[in-house]
Formats: sequence, C-alpha cells, structure tokens
Amino acid sequence: SPVLARLMRARLETLIPAGFGRLADLLGRYRQRAKDRILGLETRKRFWEDVIDGPIGNLVLAGKDREAEDKLAGLLDDREAPTDTGEVYLIGAGPGDPDLLTFRALRLLQKADVVVYDRLVAPAIVDLARREAERIYVGKRAGNHSCSQGDISGLLRDLAAEGKRVARLKGGDPFIFGRGGEEIEVLARAGLPFQVVPGITAASGCAAYAGIPLTHRDHAQSVRFVTGHRRGERLDLDWQHLASGQDTLVFYMGLGNAREICAQLIAHGMPADRGAGLVEHGTTSRQQVHVGTLATLPDRIATAQSPALLIIGDVVGLHSRLAWFEGSASADPSFLSGSIEQSDPASVRSAA
Ligand SMILES: C[S@@+](CC[C@H](N)C(=O)[O-])C[C@H]1O[C@@H](n2cnc3c(N)ncnc32)[C@H](O)[C@@H]1O
Repeated sequence: SPVLARLMRARLETLIPAGFGRLADLLGRYRQRAKDRILGLETRKRFWEDVIDGPIGNLVLAGKDREAEDKLAGLLDDREAPTDTGEVYLIGAGPGDPDLLTFRALRLLQKADVVVYDRLVAPAIVDLARREAERIYVGKRAGNHSCSQGDISGLLRDLAAEGKRVARLKGGDPFIFGRGGEEIEVLARAGLPFQVVPGITAASGCAAYAGIPLTHRDHAQSVRFVTGHRRGERLDLDWQHLASGQDTLVFYMGLGNAREICAQLIAHGMPADRGAGLVEHGTTSRQQVHVGTLATLPDRIATAQSPALLIIGDVVGLHSRLAWFEGSASADPSFLSGSIEQSDPASVRSAA
C-alpha cells in the first residue's frame, strides 16, 4: 500500500539521526586507511562500531565534523595492535511494553554479542538483539532454582573479560530495586568497562498506563518507592513514617504481603478509606487495574498475579477519570462512585 510505504519511510527517517550522511562520507574517506592499519575483519568491524557509536560519531552528529575527522585520523595514526575489549551494558528494559525502551537501550542491545536477561524482561525485547547474539536466561521464579546474584555478577565479569560485549537486560530501571549496583560493582573492581542505561521503572510505567498520576498538585506532593518484600519473618518497614502524611506510596514486590501492608498502614494511623490500587502486568496487554481503599483492596486482589505494583494514596481515585489504556479494570464500586471528581483531596477519603 502506498500509504503504508509512505508512513514507513517517514518512520525510518525519524529513526536515522540527521547527520548520518556526513558521517558516512567521513567513514568512506578513511575506509582504506583503516583496512591497511587494522588487520582482521572482526576487529575492524568492532573499530568502526566504536567510531560510529562513540565520541567521533557524536561529534559529527553535533556538527563538529573537523574535530571528528582529526580524532579519527589521530586514532588510526596512533593505533598499534588493536585489542578487543569487552564491555557490559546494564540496560533498563522498562516494565513490559517494548515501545518503552530507550533509543540507547536499543542501539546497545543490537551491538551486543551476548544478552543476559531476567524473567521480567519481555521476550519481544530480547528478540530485538542481533540474531546471532548468544542469549543467557538468569531469571528467577519463586520456588524454582535460579542463578544467585553472585553467579550473575561473576558471569558478566567473565564474559566481559573474554572480550564480549554484554547486554545485561533488567526489568524496569536497573537502579530501582534491581540490584544493578551490585552487578557493576564487581565489574568496577575488576577494572572492566560498563555503561548504565536507565529504564522506565514499574512505578512510572504502571502509573502512566493505569491513569494514576503519582503526584498531583491537589493530592500528593511527593511519592515514595518502597519494597514490600519480606526479609525473613517480618516486613521490616518504618510504618509510623509511611503512614503519616499525604505522600503517594508505591510498593514493589508487595503483592504477597498486600494484606499486611494495608493493615499495618491502618494500624499506624492511615485512614482506612485512603485510596489503594494494584496494577497487575502493567503496560502489557494483560494489564489489570484493581482499585479500592486500604480496607477493601486486599479482598479484591486475592487472585491477582505477579508482577504487580501496589499504589496507595488519594491519587488512586483519579484512575476512574484518567484510565486510557485498554485492559481489564476491576474497581470497588463504592469507591469509584465517589472518586475524585472535583480535584478535592477529601473526596477520595470520604468515598468508600
Ligand atoms: C525486583 S523488582 C524490579 C523493579 C525494576 N527494577 C523496576 O525498576 O521496575 C520487581 C517488582 O517490580 C514490579 N513490577 C515490575 N514490572 C511490573 C509490571 N509490568 N507490572 C506491575 N509491577 C511490575 C513488581 O512489584 C515486581 O515484584
């Protein structure tokens, strides 16, 4: 179809940064010199990839062609025995929808020789890696055997030390309840290079796709990300602190403990009719949003499945007006009938 062809051409043009034509000219002028100086097809391929994706490519795209050319000429003149060094790209893959990946994540994923990924990374995202890239699954599933954190960090270190470019894909953002810091600490200690690519964390993704703004001028001036994961016997949290104030609270890994979380907040003084919502499989076609109050939500989510995010605060009442993403909704009718209509923070609490 000509219309589809036109739309696809327009889409491709937006994906190719302006300035790539000048970059192609520059590479063309130095192609022979690189061939003479860098023997070995694989090494030369790696050299050009680093030129395109690194400071030289960035200089051209920023309009600094002369500076880029000086650097490229210098690089080829100084080049002695080029060695392949590995690198790890710690990439946040977002909460599920592959469209939420960043450009940088996509670029590095397509450069990687090996992809190491978790359970929460959508298969469609892993599929974006090069066809010949090796794929290693290190995910965890409750109750099943999984790689320990130490095994994963060691694997990344060993692969990078072998000279591999490793895309370490993690769900959401690698620095938010993702243990990404621990993985790159091991690399830093071994003197191996790495980059960190932020991703859309589950709180941002689920809130956006559920139509629940995490902050709102009328309802919440701040938001806290909290782990709802039990350490040993107890949920070791500062309940007094969490229950006071009007912050929106977002509990990651809180599904299994949702009843206890709601009960503790009520026991520490939070009104039982404070809005509470659960977003299951957020940003995906399986997304379900359940809303209620601290008192009513636990019974409504008895069959909900992981991954799921618990959101507590008056902002949850906005879901009934702002939901836009198709998925199944399940709401406490008494809560919804009086949910925020007039940007009145009190209306949510009095609703249930
Ligand atoms: C180990 S944490 C990892 C968080 C991740 N690093 C991030 O920034 O989103 C896993 C928890 O994130 C939440 N989560 C991740 N993806 C989700 C999704 N698509 N829908 C709902 N919750 C999600 C769930 O609470 C899950 O238990």
